[in-house]
Amino acid sequence: MASSDNINNNLPMRPIPGSYGLPFFGAMSDRHDYFYNEGRDKFFATRIEKYKSTVIRTNMPPGPFVSSNPRVIALLDAVSFPILFDNAKVEKRDVLDGTFMPSTSFTGGYRACAFQDTTEPSHALLKTFFLSFLSSRHHSFLPLFRANLSDHFSDLQDKLAHQPGHAAYNSSVSDAVFNFLFRLLTDKSPAETKIGNHGPSLVQTWLAAQLAPLATLGLPRIFNYVEDLLIRTIPIPSWTVKSSYNKLYDGFSSAGESILEEAERAGIKREEACHNLVFMLGFNAQGGLVNQFPILIKWIGLGGEDLHRELAGEIRTVVREEGGVSLGALDKMTLTKSVVYEALRIEPAVPFQYAKAREDLVVHTHDAAYQIKKGEMLFGYQPFATKDPRIFQNPEDFVPDRFVGPDGERLLRHVLWSNGRETEDPTPDNKQCPAKNLVVLLCRVYLVELFLRYDTFTLDFKPAVLGPQVTIKSLTKASSF
Ligand code: HEM
Repeated sequence: MASSDNINNNLPMRPIPGSYGLPFFGAMSDRHDYFYNEGRDKFFATRIEKYKSTVIRTNMPPGPFVSSNPRVIALLDAVSFPILFDNAKVEKRDVLDGTFMPSTSFTGGYRACAFQDTTEPSHALLKTFFLSFLSSRHHSFLPLFRANLSDHFSDLQDKLAHQPGHAAYNSSVSDAVFNFLFRLLTDKSPAETKIGNHGPSLVQTWLAAQLAPLATLGLPRIFNYVEDLLIRTIPIPSWTVKSSYNKLYDGFSSAGESILEEAERAGIKREEACHNLVFMLGFNAQGGLVNQFPILIKWIGLGGEDLHRELAGEIRTVVREEGGVSLGALDKMTLTKSVVYEALRIEPAVPFQYAKAREDLVVHTHDAAYQIKKGEMLFGYQPFATKDPRIFQNPEDFVPDRFVGPDGERLLRHVLWSNGRETEDPTPDNKQCPAKNLVVLLCRVYLVELFLRYDTFTLDFKPAVLGPQVTIKSLTKASSF
């Protein structure tokens, strides 16, 4: 099974292979390979093969003219990747989106917490507030999310009744997620504010304008140059989405009296807190979860009826024995826990992480050591770390019980979706996702609610701009329970 990733200090020092090419032309050529000629995985796989190294120099999109310096050192294995979590050695200032940063006018002129480095005092202030707020709402996670999932499954059933074999999944789960998050933060429904039922589409419009330079619509080849020119030459100005953002901000500001007062008591200016909370709700939370659930359902769907039978068996037995769905019950569902970790491993919802070297440092892989200079940009492509064949057997296969038992649990330290190890926790001094435990919990609850209602289901999916676009074809009601 897994080989260890303990760093061997006697590894040979190698120069970092790879090339940035000529200024401008190198970046353009890499970006066309990345988006259009090779695609994401092949882009990195061909370079690993060519340079016989999992640490390489390359350009990362967007490049000219959205980012002034696209040059990075890519980390493409499980040993080198975690240097990105070492906040003593790397700086995470303004690198959330990679080699460019969208204008702060998307967020009322403030740099949201996720863009701030751990050395900035306001990072710790904001993160402490997020962590303590989430922990104070711990008791509402389960009842609130279960209520929203009940609407979501009714919605899918209605859709199937209306159009058999075809229920659009992503929009349905997006609504459930937004309503859950908004209520969690404000105790009110977005429908009571000027956001109405448009929360997910307002967020999507606002996110698309910021993240467009990193995306491709997957159009036929003849449109590639036009797309590239349109979305990567100059940034999309924030005024184009100002009305969407203002609706989110005003809606949140009117409903969020109580959390905003809490933030003020914690020493954060009310306006800054509100922009930060809208960013957390829209970008971090909604942006992450609307990818995460389609990924989860896709892999569970591909697991087929046998996996569904096993999961339904485990979930129903534990719920019967424990007398309901509780945190204690969820903790006893070993297979359910394992499949959630496996989905987070095989297809991390936020696959790119960036950081700059604070100082000259050395990065190790399984086989070699590499010198990095102060100020150089490090880029981790997470799927190549969490599918490292020297850590995970059959890394490309979805293995439902991969994380069951002591050997399985030992592998959890290589699950990295939260910008940290699954065995570590977010703190004000690191950049790990403050909702790390919440996300895992929501994924488990999702499966519990699914398999309490249904014996099995079928789906179709196709790749979309971010994560898969899923269509539910059938839901077979639970025969027992
Ligand atoms: C599946 C869903 C989610 C994923 C995959 C995810 C992933 C991440 C990642 C990778 C980062 C670090 C980004 C970086 O610095 O490169 C991050 C940071 C963050 N996430 Fe999440 N996240 C998710 C859900 C959430 C939720 C539900 C919330 C809040 C309720 C949240 C709040 C945040 C915040 C505030 C940060 C910034 C932390 C800091 O600056 O120290 N995330 N998340």
